[in-house]
Amino acid sequence: MARIISQIIGCGSYLPEKILTNEDLSHIVDTTDEWITSRSGIRRRHIAAEGELTSDLALKAAERALAHAKIDAGEIDLIVVATTTPDNTFPATAVKVQARLGMTHGFAFDVQAVCSGFVYALATADNFIRAGQAKAALVIGAETFSRILDWNDRTTCVLFGDGAGAVVLRGEETGGDPATQRGILSSHLHSDGRYTDLLYVDGGPSSTKTVGHVRMEGKEVFRHAVVNLAEVVHEALEANGLEPSDLDWVVPHQANKRILDGTARKLKMDSGKIVVTVEEHANTSAASVPLALDTAVRDGRIKRGDLLLLEAMGGGLTWGASLVRW
Ligand code: UT7
Repeated sequence: MARIISQIIGCGSYLPEKILTNEDLSHIVDTTDEWITSRSGIRRRHIAAEGELTSDLALKAAERALAHAKIDAGEIDLIVVATTTPDNTFPATAVKVQARLGMTHGFAFDVQAVCSGFVYALATADNFIRAGQAKAALVIGAETFSRILDWNDRTTCVLFGDGAGAVVLRGEETGGDPATQRGILSSHLHSDGRYTDLLYVDGGPSSTKTVGHVRMEGKEVFRHAVVNLAEVVHEALEANGLEPSDLDWVVPHQANKRILDGTARKLKMDSGKIVVTVEEHANTSAASVPLALDTAVRDGRIKRGDLLLLEAMGGGLTWGASLVRW
């Protein structure tokens, strides 16, 4: 019997113009290019201009994804924006994007799962499509993380940056061979709220009536990341009867090159199959998976029919993976 599967029919991304290098940061806090590069693989990050908001970044990535998919905003009936740095506490950044795309139909909302946000948003939109409640969706990860950094704290401010990435999903009827079927094959989400203290923002509307700054126990988060990510990748592969060697590309959350290398080692995968863009934009939280995806699609690495594994872990703790045939 025919069923609905969500296919990713286009992607796009946007990085703000202003670049802050490791060398630039060494004039702001007590750090060095050598420390940042060797501990994280990060060389530079992009910083949103004054007055440039998360919705501006999201809109640019969305427009590029729509152009890549060759469809008009009129065909979209769902927008999900994953962000930790919304323009305002409310309304959702997604409705601002909806309005600026000229849409008065459909529905739009934000998802909050920090660095796992894009994987959560993708799974959410996929479920709406497969349930028949939406036909085509824009899924966006967009952040102005620079606005919640403590620029006096060298343990965090060197690690993050601003950016946005987006994909267009469209529901297609399928009765085809699962071994060649294009689309989102499965998603696997997890959270464990016992670890909120490892990575959080020390403010919020209900607690302090302020926005707050990012606080992180880097070493502990690192340890959880390598274990949880390897586990969720295995879970996604097992659910589909696949082995790590079946994957063409892993498109991971870009937090730290050493986490990506550690995950590749645990999976016994060739590190050349891991898409790494953290050097260029640092950790952009919910934006990093679609930024990496868009980079590898546009430079021709990811080709039609390739099997991709998207994965991420972040504050919460939250983590998840999606298996996608491109
Ligand atoms: O998006 C998901 C969430 N984020 C992550 O996944 C990040 C996970 N964690 C990490 O990426 C790494 O733990 C870090 C990059 C944050 C840190 O690397 P590390 O190898 O775990 O370093 P460390 O925290 O053990 O710090 C080592 C030293 C400390 O000095 P002492 O105490 O050994 O003298 C720090 O004070 O490095 C010092 N340090 C710095 N030095 C220069 C910390 N930050 C800096 C800095 N520049 N920016």
